[in-house]
Amino acid sequence: MRGRFISLEGGEGAGKSTQVRRLAEALRERGLDVVETREPGGSPGAEAIRSLLLEGDEQRWTAEAEALLFAAARADHVARTIRPALERGEWVLSDRFLDSSLAYQGGAGGLGVDRIRALHKFGSGGFVPDRTLLLSLPPKEAAARAGRRDTEGADRIGGRGDLYHRGVSAAFEALAEAEPERYRVIDASGSPDDVAAVILAAMEDLL
Ligand code: TYD
Repeated sequence: MRGRFISLEGGEGAGKSTQVRRLAEALRERGLDVVETREPGGSPGAEAIRSLLLEGDEQRWTAEAEALLFAAARADHVARTIRPALERGEWVLSDRFLDSSLAYQGGAGGLGVDRIRALHKFGSGGFVPDRTLLLSLPPKEAAARAGRRDTEGADRIGGRGDLYHRGVSAAFEALAEAEPERYRVIDASGSPDDVAAVILAAMEDLL
């Protein structure tokens, strides 16, 4: 049987990486084989593109070039890591996927979601997750958590202004509302244990 593909999405500092780990553990306890991966990255080629995207000057790429690099990294990640794992019957959990490009480059970056979807169709055959978990934080808490992280050194995109990150959150909310079958919105303001329990409950229909 083909495995399932799950993405975790959200703005900066929502705790996605912790929850990917927690969900992977919970699924393994149920006897499933699970691959944990992330974007940008998740395959050797895509990890090389990750450095191009996250390092250097904020103005390093035009908006179009940035969107193409994310789509190129994703195409490699899908072809080399995600599809082969699903075909082996494994489950794949990805820390970010297409919806990050829709929200960041398409929404906040102003390119529009249709152009991002067109790149995804070309690069990855329009491949979409079976479920997307949106970790959502009230704007104040999101800013506080992101601010804490900034002092530890933000990357090219994480370091963009408040307005940009508010645009990202608004775009994610609109995406979740438009696709209630695929999306589940998770309140990420609780303790890691509480959030992990809510996430597992939001997966029950797939298990
Ligand atoms: P990362 O260190 O993985 O950050 P986080 O812990 O917030 O997930 O850096 C990824 C950065 O790239 C993050 O700021 C979101 C951004 N990004 C996009 O703008 N578009 C995309 O398609 C993806 C996958 C990430």
